[in-house]
Amino acid sequence: MRLARDAGHGTSDPLPPARDASFARDVRIGLSGHAKSMSPKYFYDAAGSALFEAICRTPEYYPTRAESALLARVAEDIAAAFPPGAALIEFGSGASEKTNLLLGTRAGIDLYVPIDISRDALAQASARLAARYPALTVLPVEADFTQAFVLPDSAQQRPKVGFFPGSTIGNFTHDEAVGFLRNAREMLGAGARMIVGADMVKDLPTLLRAYDDAEGVTARFNKNLLVRINRELDGSFDPESFDHLAIWNDVHDRIEMHLVSRVDQIVHAAGHAFMFRRGERLHTENSHKFTPEAFATLAARAGWTVARHWIGDAPAFGIFELVDDERAG
Ligand code: AVI
Repeated sequence: MRLARDAGHGTSDPLPPARDASFARDVRIGLSGHAKSMSPKYFYDAAGSALFEAICRTPEYYPTRAESALLARVAEDIAAAFPPGAALIEFGSGASEKTNLLLGTRAGIDLYVPIDISRDALAQASARLAARYPALTVLPVEADFTQAFVLPDSAQQRPKVGFFPGSTIGNFTHDEAVGFLRNAREMLGAGARMIVGADMVKDLPTLLRAYDDAEGVTARFNKNLLVRINRELDGSFDPESFDHLAIWNDVHDRIEMHLVSRVDQIVHAAGHAFMFRRGERLHTENSHKFTPEAFATLAARAGWTVARHWIGDAPAFGIFELVDDERAG
């Protein structure tokens, strides 16, 4: 799925974009039956991307600021373990904002491969980085990072370090996260490393506020899914007849976002009619939070070992250094 990345990139989203035919099919499947749900990748049309960036600027949404602050503090430490001559490969690079924190270290990275679905985002970020780091070669790859793609030849020949900041990993199901991490390990090759940002389990009020800000930006982001269905799939949703709901699921350690129907209603979209009962929920997003142990277990299922991790000051965010021990050397 395509996940959105943090604010500040301005041109791309955490998740790769949805295609029309699959959008219609997923709406038909997701809105039929009782446990209604949609993938969060459908949040990120232009309006949804702008709303996500606005979320990242709210006082309540801490993950973006927490990750940047932590990365700024530990970047030298992280980069000190990069193999000599390593290429940096970023999944869903957007504006490559946080990448600066690694490229600016003494590791002297001279080959950077940003992977993103947005050609514009890649072009803008590549031009900016080339101007800022004259010794850096930037080889952009336009691709959906959740699907198979090929790395440029010159990166193939180098040891590779993957970079996946933003806690987008938390928006995947655990099986999707394992699949993504496993594919990344295969692609990065023998002796690979990967640096992943993940949000940590913390006190409930902080978590709930982050996903239900006082200004209502997150509510608009959530309801934008309905606006998008109306526009792209000839839908008849009245977004005001749904409430935004953010809840903590303590079985799965995740914030869930839902849209709750205020009334009994029948809505049309993608050529179909869908019944919503008053109080019925449409589940729109999971945002998994981790403990260091839970993240290590997830990574291990994909064949990675957590070599080191860093947790920032409250509200806690984590950066995990994964190594492919099995195939090292
Ligand atoms: C992109 N992703 C990491 C965000 C998150 O925190 O799960 C998306 C988001 N949803 C609501 N607010 C932000």
